[in-house]
Amino acid sequence: MRPLLFRRGGGDAEAAHRWTLDKLGAIDRSARLRAATARAMRPVDDPVTLFGVEFANRVGLAAGMAKNGEALRAWRPLGFGFAEIGTVTWRAQPGNPRPRLFRLPRSQALINRMGFNNYGTAALVRKLQTYASDAKTLQREVGMPIGISLGKSKITPLEDAVGDYVSSLLAVRDFASYVAVNVSSPNTPGLRSLQDKGFLRELLDALRAEASDVPLLVKIAPELTHSAIDDVLDVCRESGAAGLIATNTTTGRDGVEPSERRVAEESGGLSGRPLTELSRQKVAYLRSQVGSDLPIIGVGGIGSADDAARMVDAGADLVQIYSGLVFSGPTLVRAAAARLAEGSR
Ligand SMILES: Cc1cc2nc3c(=O)[nH]c(=O)nc-3n(C[C@H](O)[C@H](O)[C@H](O)COP(=O)(O)O)c2cc1C
Repeated sequence: MRPLLFRRGGGDAEAAHRWTLDKLGAIDRSARLRAATARAMRPVDDPVTLFGVEFANRVGLAAGMAKNGEALRAWRPLGFGFAEIGTVTWRAQPGNPRPRLFRLPRSQALINRMGFNNYGTAALVRKLQTYASDAKTLQREVGMPIGISLGKSKITPLEDAVGDYVSSLLAVRDFASYVAVNVSSPNTPGLRSLQDKGFLRELLDALRAEASDVPLLVKIAPELTHSAIDDVLDVCRESGAAGLIATNTTTGRDGVEPSERRVAEESGGLSGRPLTELSRQKVAYLRSQVGSDLPIIGVGGIGSADDAARMVDAGADLVQIYSGLVFSGPTLVRAAAARLAEGSR
């Protein structure tokens, strides 16, 4: 399938992504196709409960694949134990001009500068309402928990970021098993400065006040230094965050194969193999600082069951995958979940 997929849309990676989501949409809509997919993929049943949410297994779909909540009932039959949809923003926005997604196959990496293209929070809620009336029934309908990732609308000035996030939270909170506070995408100018202590405290306090009992998780960038991570952890503890997600894509270009240096000059966040070690190091540092206090979702460059196991050994409770799906295909999901289930027993 992969050579065919990589040639879609004249080799445009985003065209392949759209085509894949369309096919998954057909699975989402048909009980027969869902059952056939589950028979082929044999999803791993390895329930694990964190911050009051029961995950079907330890392997989740990372944010950015289903930005508008696409194909929600297809992800469990494919083998995932949870999915994080979004990032959505309060205002619908087109994102950056195309092309904005690039494959670096030799490096097993992607570069994206999508820029939070999405139909907006209200449209997402309308879609979720077609499945269920609240998070519990949604979880039952799609077979696993759904996290919702929130970001800042591009036109909202940084000073008004808190209100923008809070508006989104109020809209989605009834449907979210957890909410991911995305302050780490490199593709919205200024967004990463929301990781600074003062900003983050204001943001998390405001969100916590409106979240009712929905767990809030903070997603961090791989560039954060140890002292910046310490600051984030202080704020997370004080404002009652339920956990962390580490990491988003990197603005660095280390680990790219020499033959792909040209593509690597494209601006945007790098994901996949070059991120494996960096993300794992950040997870290990987080775990060394939080002890058993806060759950951690490890994400970045997981391309094999071994990578998933190493991320858990470094201290992650759950893992997420994006780029690995592109280069290893969906069989990676079962392989990783099965390996992590062995560790659970
Ligand atoms: C095309 C693309 C779009 C992404 N969009 C988002 C997003 O909207 N929100 C987010 O938090 N992370 C987003 N990410 C980052 C992933 O969720 C993940 O943190 C990162 O890619 C590292 O994991 P990976 O190496 O398995 O891809 C995106 C990644 C890619 C490749």
